[in-house]
Amino acid sequence: MKSSALKIASPKTLDVSLVTDTILKGDCIAMMQSIPDNSIDMIFADPPYNMQLGGDLHRPDNSHVDAVTDAWDQYESFEAYDRFTTAWLREARRILKKDGAIWVIGSYHNIFRVGTAMQDAGFWIQNDIIWRKANPMPNFRGTRFTNAHETLIWATKGKDSKATFHYEFLKEQNDGVQMRSDDWFIPICSGDERLTDSDDNKVHSTQKPEELLKRVMLSTSRPGDVILDPFFGSGTTGAVAKKLGRHFIGIEREDKYIKAATARIKLINPETGPEGFMPFAAKREKPRVSVLQVIEAGVLKVGERVTDKMGRFEAVICADGLLMQGDGPHKSIHKMGAEMMEAPSMNGWTFWHIERGGRRIVLDEFRETARKKLFADTHGQRSMLLPIKGKK
Ligand SMILES: C[S@@+](CC[C@H](N)C(=O)[O-])C[C@H]1O[C@@H](n2cnc3c(N)ncnc32)[C@H](O)[C@@H]1O
Repeated sequence: MKSSALKIASPKTLDVSLVTDTILKGDCIAMMQSIPDNSIDMIFADPPYNMQLGGDLHRPDNSHVDAVTDAWDQYESFEAYDRFTTAWLREARRILKKDGAIWVIGSYHNIFRVGTAMQDAGFWIQNDIIWRKANPMPNFRGTRFTNAHETLIWATKGKDSKATFHYEFLKEQNDGVQMRSDDWFIPICSGDERLTDSDDNKVHSTQKPEELLKRVMLSTSRPGDVILDPFFGSGTTGAVAKKLGRHFIGIEREDKYIKAATARIKLINPETGPEGFMPFAAKREKPRVSVLQVIEAGVLKVGERVTDKMGRFEAVICADGLLMQGDGPHKSIHKMGAEMMEAPSMNGWTFWHIERGGRRIVLDEFRETARKKLFADTHGQRSMLLPIKGKK
């Protein structure tokens, strides 16, 4: 696969079939202007967030937070961002087929402005979907709620468009229950899926998880469809399209992302069955399990000693599921951990450890064992027989 540098001398006359499964290098508005009316089946857009971060962010321990501070995310004002949004959406709507779908993802920084612009442009909103992040970045300063979701807007070209929607397939994937707009509980992109450079730095600050794109494509597109992504970045849309037997057209301005996306997509083998469907994990939030329930399940014992990973701090598990140091007050695993680290908040499940067989094992593993015991036959649903006690 090669990226193409298009000459856009003749607007709206580009033969789409010649540029499928390629990345067009350049500004998305100019590139879309070369594409004929009504020629694209689906658009997935992950535009700049316009986050307006005032400089670098640091954690309480002064380490640097990997936030989105890239030049491509900077706009001089909301008006400038709105002008840009209106312009790319106008082209996007023009090139979308009558019954095509558009998906736009964003955060609270931009999604309301984008949503308004979409309606003003004539798109008809079908749903907004909440992508709940299984592992969001904490609010390090402890001044606001943890920002744990992004919103996806799914819209059609107009009110009269006939949207593709694989209702039965989605229901089947969701244990026979209608898929909901808030069932999208997916971790942010990490591990092997995350593209990194030779120094182990992220190639792209906002690489989206493939699971998210899988759901988007499996719900509202068909095998063989052409899916255009005007903000291609690390090429997640292209990678998933190839896996699912769809075609893609990527547009991206920056060479380093085009290079990374090209290499990524080249390595992918299609994964779908003959109908272009593949099952996806309808991952729900795991049932909550409290320390008390872990004790009740016989996985932890009252009086057991917990320490942090290095063994610098220790406490004892009490019968009420809280921790105690010496004769001090009982505190939750989270509160006690936060106090030890002088942090505004802390996940006690990953902070505290228990020694077993000469090894310090993280508390979260005990919780997982208890969860399996407690919810063994309920497919991740809460057992009707076991009341949930406590909050975490
Ligand atoms: C939020 S990121 C998209 C990330 C992508 N979804 C992924 O999974 O990697 C937005 C991307 O749009 C690109 N971009 C921003 N403005 C653009 C424009 N006017 N034309 C083309 N690309 C643009 C940026 O370089 C950046 O890679």
